[in-house]
Amino acid sequence: MSIAHPTSMALLKPFLNLIIIALLCIQFSQGQAQIDWVNGGYWYTESGLAASAIDSTLFTHLFCAFADLNPNTNQVTVSSECATFPDTVHQKNPSVITLLSIGGGSVDSSVFNQMASQPASRRTFIDSSIRLARASGYDGLDLDWEHLTMPSEMANMATLLEEWRAALDDEASSTGADRLILTAAVAVSPQLDPETRFPTEVIARNLDWVNVMAYDFYNPSGSSVTRSHAALFDPTGGPSGSSGIRAWIDGGVPREQLVLGFPFYGYAYKLVNPNKNGLLAPAAGIDTSVGDPGYGTVAYSKIRAFINARRATVVYNSTYVTNYCYSGTTWIGYDDTQAIATKVSYAKNNRLFGYVAWHIGQDYNWMLSRQAFQAWGAKATVAVA
Ligand SMILES: *[C@@H]1O[C@H](CO)[C@@H](O)[C@H](O)[C@H]1NC(C)=O
Repeated sequence: MSIAHPTSMALLKPFLNLIIIALLCIQFSQGQAQIDWVNGGYWYTESGLAASAIDSTLFTHLFCAFADLNPNTNQVTVSSECATFPDTVHQKNPSVITLLSIGGGSVDSSVFNQMASQPASRRTFIDSSIRLARASGYDGLDLDWEHLTMPSEMANMATLLEEWRAALDDEASSTGADRLILTAAVAVSPQLDPETRFPTEVIARNLDWVNVMAYDFYNPSGSSVTRSHAALFDPTGGPSGSSGIRAWIDGGVPREQLVLGFPFYGYAYKLVNPNKNGLLAPAAGIDTSVGDPGYGTVAYSKIRAFINARRATVVYNSTYVTNYCYSGTTWIGYDDTQAIATKVSYAKNNRLFGYVAWHIGQDYNWMLSRQAFQAWGAKATVAVA
């Protein structure tokens, strides 16, 4: 190190203020919550997995599902598990970012639509969401308004998102706290039918990102052949994760605001002929010996138990990017480690904002969560599609 000559110090003097300002800017931006990507997972309060048992070191973001919208008061309410969730998961990973998810698949769309259709109820909802998030130490809020079917619902959602984001900006500037993150879980494609379309321009402008629910395309009650419910590709032109992501990008939501959602569960079919056991093999509804009697869903942890107990055959199909397993007349379409790793590489190679799993309580010994986390960190290997 050399000592600066007095004259060179004098020459530097006019620039010192600029240098100090530049250093302060770097300092300031480091103080903000930096989000570079999402290695995310939803924790469902009714999954049977205690929040304290979550290996939060395998995630950058964890969503607590779900807080409820009270249709009488239009306020958001949380269970005690969601109220303590940020503190609980920070014990193993102090830097994991936490979001409070509101709604979920079991809530009727009309409940959200009613709230979102009036200025006063929107205000009540938004204010209570911010109060709750701050009271529990969440970093953000996630809207899980599902089953929308009408253009008027999409218009109300757009208004809600605009006002919500403005309120978050106001709250941050008046308190000096980091702005709360705002996200939503959305359908695999923004275009639900010719008239009904998610407000993509409003979403791109107001949300930090969306979690694209690229699953539940088929179930055993609605399909006479075995299928992957969450294929990344479908050469026959059916719904797929990649076609949905493409539709969101073409619809105006930049890839940097898209997070690929994948399932930690599958669907159990009953085969018509145990010797015809590939994809698109004849099937006769739900196999209720393993599948949930409602839709035929099976958690990954149960699929692993089935594979071990029945010595089932496991196949990975790289054309569709799905796994399936079978034994006798039981056939399950699901994502195992190969499908998960390939989907994560796809998200990374396509420069999406990350991935999110629904839901982590269905994992088996953190196998899929760890596979996803490592695949994102590892060098990507799948061609950009
Ligand atoms: C995946 O399954 C389809 C449908 O059964 C089949 O046509 C295709 O060859 C399979 N791909 C691979 C790589 O096995």
